Amino acid sequence: MQTQTHYDVCIVGGGIIGCSIAYYLAKQGLRPLVIEKNTLGSQSTQAGAGMLGAQVEMDEPSPLYDLGIASRSLYKELAAELKDLSGVEIELQTSGILRLAVSEEDRAALRARHKWQGETGQKTEWIEDEELRRDFGNLFGPTFGALFLPDDHQVRNLALLRSLTIAATRLGAIFMEHTEVIGFLRQGNRITGVETPTGKFEADQVILAAGAWSGILGKWAGFDLSVFPVKGQAVLARTLAPVTPFTVFTHGAYMVPKVNQLYIGATMEQVGFDQSPALQGIARILSDAIRIMPPLAKLGMEQSLVGLRPGSSDGLPFIGEVPGLKGILVASGHFRNGVLLAPITGQIITELVTGHKPGFDLSPFSLAR
Ligand code: GLY
Repeated sequence: MQTQTHYDVCIVGGGIIGCSIAYYLAKQGLRPLVIEKNTLGSQSTQAGAGMLGAQVEMDEPSPLYDLGIASRSLYKELAAELKDLSGVEIELQTSGILRLAVSEEDRAALRARHKWQGETGQKTEWIEDEELRRDFGNLFGPTFGALFLPDDHQVRNLALLRSLTIAATRLGAIFMEHTEVIGFLRQGNRITGVETPTGKFEADQVILAAGAWSGILGKWAGFDLSVFPVKGQAVLARTLAPVTPFTVFTHGAYMVPKVNQLYIGATMEQVGFDQSPALQGIARILSDAIRIMPPLAKLGMEQSLVGLRPGSSDGLPFIGEVPGLKGILVASGHFRNGVLLAPITGQIITELVTGHKPGFDLSPFSLAR
């Protein structure tokens, strides 16, 4: 059997962003090819907590805040749609996120956030310490009040990835693992495909969605893309009964309840492409976590996780065209928000590929910003 070598779209990178793009493209009748150098979701996707922190991760009003809110709002429908198409439950948990204040300064910042996020129409509830103690006893260490964000939800990353790939495959997408893109095909100012050790693949449109490696691949394609790795280390602890009904987030650590597990994350380290687990990073997040939630000290350790987030210097993703180059679009630099932004990124890239005006102003996310 001869392998097909021309595709409508070739997506470089099989993480949550690349797989979401494949799904949204396939829904529009295109047959994208996803090329992944390792296995699907094996980089930052497998290490992430799956928080849909559209509010908890944002310190001020910004285009990223608006993008996150828009993407979060797609999740309920997406979860149902993916369940139908793939049979996989993405474990969307809608119990909210509690952001604990751990100092007077933190309290003032969170009170301000309570105000501005409320003014943008989002739900926020302020909870004083007495109420926390009344409802949760000694679950928390010293606190200065807390902000509860009932609409910030969470999913299981790898279940989401699996359901996106099964659904996209059913709709005609093709996923190629263990295949590294080693170069780009180019005619004049147009990228016409990619080169791999097993052959060349031509495409009408190439999408660069290679996470922390996107900056390197951008260079190979002939343009500058300032995306760099930010290492995150996290721990999965074993839990027989849920320690907390919702995600708890503080300065230094966050705790995300999963079925029979508690995800405790995550470090932020700029150490290049080093992915080795280091005791120092894990010790730091665990001591922060135990200080804020003392009962965690008794949990058993199940697994440690490491991933490289695709960082950008202003914390915003790059979504859209490459100035001066045709045939290639970028979807990268999603930093701490890959899972949150996966659906809206898939939608926007699909609008661009199919020649529709994106439903979002892309200038804050442009490569020329
Ligand atoms: N979204 C949380 C993190 O990247 O650590």
